Amino acid sequence: MSTFTSSTVAIPGAGAIPRHVAIIMDGNGRWATARRLPRVAGHARGVEAVRNTVEACARRGVEYLTLFAFSSENWRRPQEEVSVLMRLFISALEREVTQLQKNGIRLRVVGELSAFEPRLRELITQAEARTAGNERMTLTIAANYGGRWDILQAVQTALCEQPELARHPERFAEPTLAQHLAMAYAPEPDLFIRTGGEQRISNFLLWQLAYTELYFTDVWWPDFDAAALDRAIESYATRERRFGRTSAQVTAAASG
Ligand code: IPE
Ligand code: IPE
Ligand code: MG
Repeated sequence: MSTFTSSTVAIPGAGAIPRHVAIIMDGNGRWATARRLPRVAGHARGVEAVRNTVEACARRGVEYLTLFAFSSENWRRPQEEVSVLMRLFISALEREVTQLQKNGIRLRVVGELSAFEPRLRELITQAEARTAGNERMTLTIAANYGGRWDILQAVQTALCEQPELARHPERFAEPTLAQHLAMAYAPEPDLFIRTGGEQRISNFLLWQLAYTELYFTDVWWPDFDAAALDRAIESYATRERRFGRTSAQVTAAASG
């Protein structure tokens, strides 16, 4: 497994295919409402879009795919919708892990998982263990995840492990924090996609998105497919990632 490097420190090599794609899967409710269906019908269709996107990313050589499935703020939704989302999560874990295994995909789930019911936590643990040896692509599901929670728990964990940092805060460096983030096993996202038309981060990966290329599309998540993914990747391929440097420096580094 690769060691963690901050893309703000180590500049990733340019490539047409992003190594890490992170997606806010938004628009399920509006997809359903537009069809006069209950919102939860949109979530059910959203699971199919997840299946297709996982497969499409793996085929294109994406190494890490991270999907925002449930935010720490989504508990504010009506109790009924929350419980349908939990049931969908459970049934997806029960049904899809065999396919992930066949396709060589490692599954990780990040977020404050202690809030979930025991059955769900057990399925997560089992699925992660079963797929732990797979190396083709790492699929991360962010569930009860919040970027602020992640930064806070990283600081707390670092201070517990190294109490002397409290007396020497100048030793508390970026890597100290980064290595305790929930997704410390992955490089920072190269491409961020948000479906559903909103242009905001909604407390997703706050630390890691510092230099990620952002892509917003009006496509509702249940309609997101390989063609929509390709449009996002095409857009990504046209970007010049400068990480603070000038365009001339970037061009010189690429040709030299
Ligand atoms: C995203 O779709 C799924 C979750 C947040 C769980 P939404 O449910 O937010 O759909 P809209 O934004 O209401 O259309
Ligand atoms: C973000 O979508 C969270 C997920 C997709 C899981 P929301 O629909 O919850 O975001 P807001 O409330 O519109 O910002
Ligand atoms: Mg939404």
